[in-house]
Amino acid sequence: MDSVSANRRFWNRISGSYQCEHDPQIGAAPRLWGTYAIPDAQLRALGDVTGKRVLELGCGAGQWSRVLAAEGATVVGLDLSEAQLTAAARAMGAARYPLVQGAAERLPFAADSFDLVFCDYGGLSWAPPHLAVPQAARVLRPGGRLVFNVASPWFEACYDEATSRATTTLHQDYFGLDAIDEGQGAVSYQLTYGGWIRVLRGAGLVIDDLIEPRPDPGTANGYNRTDPPDWAHRWPAEMLWVTHKA
Ligand SMILES: C[S@@+](CC[C@H](N)C(=O)[O-])C[C@H]1O[C@@H](n2cnc3c(N)ncnc32)[C@H](O)[C@@H]1O
Repeated sequence: MDSVSANRRFWNRISGSYQCEHDPQIGAAPRLWGTYAIPDAQLRALGDVTGKRVLELGCGAGQWSRVLAAEGATVVGLDLSEAQLTAAARAMGAARYPLVQGAAERLPFAADSFDLVFCDYGGLSWAPPHLAVPQAARVLRPGGRLVFNVASPWFEACYDEATSRATTTLHQDYFGLDAIDEGQGAVSYQLTYGGWIRVLRGAGLVIDDLIEPRPDPGTANGYNRTDPPDWAHRWPAEMLWVTHKA
């Protein structure tokens, strides 16, 4: 639980500037995945949510949650940061949904509460996976789905802190990425491919797919610079896991 308070402070601090910079991209259209804003209609990860009980784990300003609520899901948006939750409350549409402050490491919900738990660079990027994945699995009903998008170990290993961009050189060891210093005390998390598979299976989840979102060359990325610019067209920058509870 070490990073919970540091990450909460971090997101409270950056929420205003983050939303100014990224909300126009994240919220530009419904159901956009990841840093390249690839439509779910293309990736087909989430499926129909009508009538489903849905938890967004680290909802930020709720760009995903408000869309799914409008589609007829019973959505709960959970986030660690009160500043992010305030942004979500401000941006809520006509389809109201509850916002809950909490940590992916210790979810304040009963077992079997949801049909779908998902996030896009949310709680499963910012909480230790060996804690957050079993929590997500616990609150899912049997057959319920955990779907989440995170940065890939490729991207992390090729990320050059000195120039703040992903390059074609390996800058970090693949083994031992684990806890990644995000500055100002904040920490994000990454596992090896084998590590993710073991954590997911260990929590009783069945892996249905590992989608590797691939932007077309020239697709804008509002978050990270890459060298070459079409890096993510050539190598997998993100991992979109599709799983269900056995
Ligand atoms: C990159 S945003 C993801 C939200 C949205 N999809 C987006 O791209 O802006 C990361 C969110 O995770 C939240 N977060 C960080 N650590 C968390 C934790 N341990 N549990 C739940 N949420 C957390 C942050 O407050 C932040 O709102």
